[in-house]
Amino acid sequence: MKWQKWHRILAWMAGLQMILWLITGLTLSLLPADLLNDSKDRVRSSPNVIATPLPDLTPLLREHGDKLLGVDVAHHLPQAVYQVKTTEGDHWYRIKPLAPFTPTIAELTWVAAASYSGNAPLSRPELITSPAQSISNTPVYLVTAGDTQIYIDTASARVIAHKHTGSQIKQWLLMIHFMDYFPDNGLGFNALPIQIMALLALTMGLSGVATLISRGLAGTLVLPFKLAGSKTLEVFDLENRPLAEFKCRGSLLQSINHKQKTLTTRCGGGGSCGMCRLRWLEDAPEPTKQDRFALSEAMLTEGVRLGCQHKAGNMKVALSTPAQQKYWQRQTSDDTHPATKG
Ligand code: FES
Repeated sequence: MKWQKWHRILAWMAGLQMILWLITGLTLSLLPADLLNDSKDRVRSSPNVIATPLPDLTPLLREHGDKLLGVDVAHHLPQAVYQVKTTEGDHWYRIKPLAPFTPTIAELTWVAAASYSGNAPLSRPELITSPAQSISNTPVYLVTAGDTQIYIDTASARVIAHKHTGSQIKQWLLMIHFMDYFPDNGLGFNALPIQIMALLALTMGLSGVATLISRGLAGTLVLPFKLAGSKTLEVFDLENRPLAEFKCRGSLLQSINHKQKTLTTRCGGGGSCGMCRLRWLEDAPEPTKQDRFALSEAMLTEGVRLGCQHKAGNMKVALSTPAQQKYWQRQTSDDTHPATKG
């Protein structure tokens, strides 16, 4: 019971995420690639020609000293700029005259326009101090053009990303598919939520095996290939009139419902709903833990037990509630219900 309860809870948790994996994976592969493509209207600017000779780099070497890793010439602006790489990060300088670089609105607009192949007019660059983490951890400039958002780095004036409705949908699908539910989680199959889910799935498998073993030990496990036993279970109605006979397969509930569901349950044999209660007409077995949990002392004294918790055998049992009898009659009212079930 304990294992079965855990197995059910874990199955819900792991099953839900597996359904989400399936749905998002299928959606990602079935939607047209162009619809989800971040860069569908993005063009990569070609390098501009820069004036030569380049200015003397001595001031930069002196300013960054030991921390200097290298100097590149970047061509993504109307005028090329220096990218000074240091151990503390990158610094940007105008080349002529040599001076620290801060992009102007005109330059940002030029960069956005150069990266965009659509026809919609561009908005004025707007500073976004807390962009989405998937775009940047630092402030960015945003330029919109129709459905497209163009994100530009504030330090270098380089285009970081283009986004549009399709790419937002893709981001949501990827977030669910990779369980990217926490900040800094990132996309990948080695993230903490996926590791937790893998452990849950493993525990679900183990609790399933434990459930099978405990059912096997209790004699209430029915395997699909198990043949009917030679013993016969006789079932009577509330007034002790014969209703039907069944060949025994595992529990009383499984034997009775083997071919046609005539005893309804809510827990499917889990021992928690109490709807499979039957009254033993002779030699009631010892009550199990589940019997004691689901049935009152008076019922136990009358010989009432849970049909899902006891192994069927040569025995006589009767229905124990009017609701059971009503359900049984409704299920068998078409007269096709044979007196003895296989
Ligand atoms: S089927 Fe629910 S308690 Fe037996």
